[in-house]
Amino acid sequence: MNRPVIIAMDFENRQEAERFLTSFSGESLFLKVGMELFYKEGPSLVRDWKREGHRIFLDLKLHDIPNTVKRAARQLATLGVDMTTVHAAGGVKMMAAAMEGLKEGTTTGDLPICVAVTQLTSTSEEMMKEELYIAHSLEDTVVHYANNAKRAGLHGVVCSALEAGHIKEQVSPSFYTVTPGIRLQSDSHDDQQRVVTPVKAKSLGSDAIVVGRSITTADDPKAAYEKIKTEWRGKE
Ligand code: C5P
Repeated sequence: MNRPVIIAMDFENRQEAERFLTSFSGESLFLKVGMELFYKEGPSLVRDWKREGHRIFLDLKLHDIPNTVKRAARQLATLGVDMTTVHAAGGVKMMAAAMEGLKEGTTTGDLPICVAVTQLTSTSEEMMKEELYIAHSLEDTVVHYANNAKRAGLHGVVCSALEAGHIKEQVSPSFYTVTPGIRLQSDSHDDQQRVVTPVKAKSLGSDAIVVGRSITTADDPKAAYEKIKTEWRGKE
């Protein structure tokens, strides 16, 4: 996969999302559909956007008993999604079951990329220790969960670009890192604490970047997308 810029489609409904897409008429994009939009609009949205030539990152962060996750993953694969997520906290068996489900449901031969969420970025070390009762450091926990994901046969993890190099070092250089928290130098940071520019994400070894508001709320979304793509990919 060629270093995609994945646009986070954090819209309330299909109408708003498709109004945004009119800026890109005819262009094939890589779109991240999260829980909000999926729970509102359902599988038909994914099928329609696939039919229009877009790639889909369906970010539902599956986390349940292995059998349920396997069956859910099979359904997601039948939709033809290109990328999806599970929670590493579900354990190795659960993640392996997700991969089995994806394989069973894939009809085209193109297995979706499956990446794990290690610890949510909203989780602090303090919260992890006190509420989740995990005694290790946040950094060690993230690397341990990433290694579990690798053992389960997943392709990679979602992480900050700032962690991508360390994770590759500790897990495998080819372990796929999908990194949100991207902003252009000139953008506001919104609620993201640790942001990096597309150029920096590239130098840190990210494989794919996820960008939401820097594109979706830009005065000229197409121009913002092109600028990010050029910075991220450089001269190829
Ligand atoms: O608008 P913004 O670029 O901050 O959006 C980033 C997207 O990536 C959102 O859909 C957000 O939920 C997602 N994300 C994140 N941090 C993570 C995992 C996902 O920002 N650790």
